Amino acid sequence: MPYFSMVSMLSLTNKRILLGITGGIAAYKCAELTRLFAKAGAEVRVAMTQAATEFITPLTMQALSGNRVSLDLLDTEAEAAMGHIELARWADLVLVAPATADFIARVTHGQADDILSTLVLATNAPIALAPAMNQAMWADTGTQSNLRSLRERGFHIFGPGEGAQACGDIGLGRMLEPEQLIEHSAALFEVGELAGLRFVITGGPTREAIDPVRFITNHSSGKMAYALAQEAAAAGAQVTLISGRVNLSAPETVRTLDVESAEDMLTAVMENISDASVFIGVAAVADYRPRLQAEEKIKKDGENLTLELVKNPDIISEVAKLEPKPFVVGFAAETNSIVENGKEKLDKKNLDLLFANNATETFNSDSISVTAITPDNEFELATANKNVVAREMLKLIAEKVKG
Ligand code: PMT
Repeated sequence: MPYFSMVSMLSLTNKRILLGITGGIAAYKCAELTRLFAKAGAEVRVAMTQAATEFITPLTMQALSGNRVSLDLLDTEAEAAMGHIELARWADLVLVAPATADFIARVTHGQADDILSTLVLATNAPIALAPAMNQAMWADTGTQSNLRSLRERGFHIFGPGEGAQACGDIGLGRMLEPEQLIEHSAALFEVGELAGLRFVITGGPTREAIDPVRFITNHSSGKMAYALAQEAAAAGAQVTLISGRVNLSAPETVRTLDVESAEDMLTAVMENISDASVFIGVAAVADYRPRLQAEEKIKKDGENLTLELVKNPDIISEVAKLEPKPFVVGFAAETNSIVENGKEKLDKKNLDLLFANNATETFNSDSISVTAITPDNEFELATANKNVVAREMLKLIAEKVKG
C-alpha cells in the first residue's frame, strides 16, 4: 500500500476531523486512521456508536486522538466538556468509518437517535461515509437507493473496496484502507498558501519582576500577534505562538506557549526555533529588567526608590544569528521618524522584513497602519483591522519565502 502523498499531508494540516465509528469489524482500522490523520497535522475527535465499542475500545481511540471520545448523547460530563452541537460546529469534516448499512439507512432518514447520527444531522461541515458491509448487503436495492439519496444531498461516499470479507464472501463492501481514506479526505480541502511552513511568533508584552508583586511592562495587548497566528494557521502553516500575558486566546490550531519575562521568552523561542521557516517578532519585549528581583515585597521606606536596570537579551537578533536562519520578520512601534527608525532596526538586527508602525496608534487598537520595509524596498499597507492586515503581511512573507 503506497504511503499517502505530500499533498495530503499539506491539505490536512490544522484540519479538524470528527471521526465517527459505527459497529463493523473494520472499526479496528480506525486506530491507524487516527494516527495517520494526526501525522498529517489534523486534530481528531471521535464519536462512537454503542455497537462500535464492541469492536474497538473508546480508551484506544481516546489515547490515539488525545481527546475524550463522545459515546452518549445524554452524558452530562462529555456535554460539559464539548457539547454535541459545539462538536458538530467544530468539525471541518465529519468522516464516518466504517459506515454500516444500518447507519447509512438511519442517516438517509434523518434519524438522530444516538450521538453519531445527531452529529451528522447537526453539522454544516462536509460529511463523508466509508461504507463497510457484506457484499450482498451492499448490493441490496435498499442500500443503493439510500446511497443515491445521500449523494444527491452532498454526502461524499469513499469506497467501498473489493476483496475477501470477514464473513468469507468475496466482493464489494470492504472499507477502504486508512491511507486511501486519508487521500480522499485530503482531496476535499485546498492546500493553504502557507502549507508546509512552520512559523514561530512572539507576541504581547513581557513582565520584568521588581519584587513578588510589582513588575515593569508595557501596553501591548497581543492583538497583532494573535491575528497573525490565527491567519497563518488558517492558511495552513504550523504555528507556535510564544506569548506574554494577554487576555486573548488563540485558536486550537495554534500551539501557544505562555511566558512572563524577556528571558523566559528567549528560552521558549530557542527551544522551538529549529526547523522554523519563519520567525515573526511582534512582542513588545522590555529592553531592560531590574538587576535584582527582591524576594520580599519592597517596603515604602523612603521618598525615592532607585532601581538599577540591566539590558535584556535581544531575542530577534539572536534568531537572526542562527545558521541556518529562518526568514526573520520584526516590528517596530515608533513615536517619531517611524520609517527611518524602522530601517535602522531592520539593518541593525539583520532582519529580512520589518513592519514599522505608529506606537501612539497601534498599542491595544483593533486596527493598524504599517510600512513594510525590506533591505531594498519600502511601502505602506492599507490601514485596516489587524486580521485583514495580518493576511496582507502573510501574503508578502509567503512571496518572499517561496521566492
Ligand atoms: O500587541 P498589540 O496591542 O496588538 O500592539 C502591537 C505592537 C505595537 C506590539 C506591534 O505592532 C509592534 O510594533 N511590536 C514591536 C514593538 C517594538 O517597538 O519593538 P522594538 O522596537 O523594541 O523592537 C524591534 C523588534 O525587536 C521587534 O520585532 C521586537 O519583538 C524585537 N525585540 C526587541 C527587544 C528585545 N529585547 N527582543 C526582541 O526580540
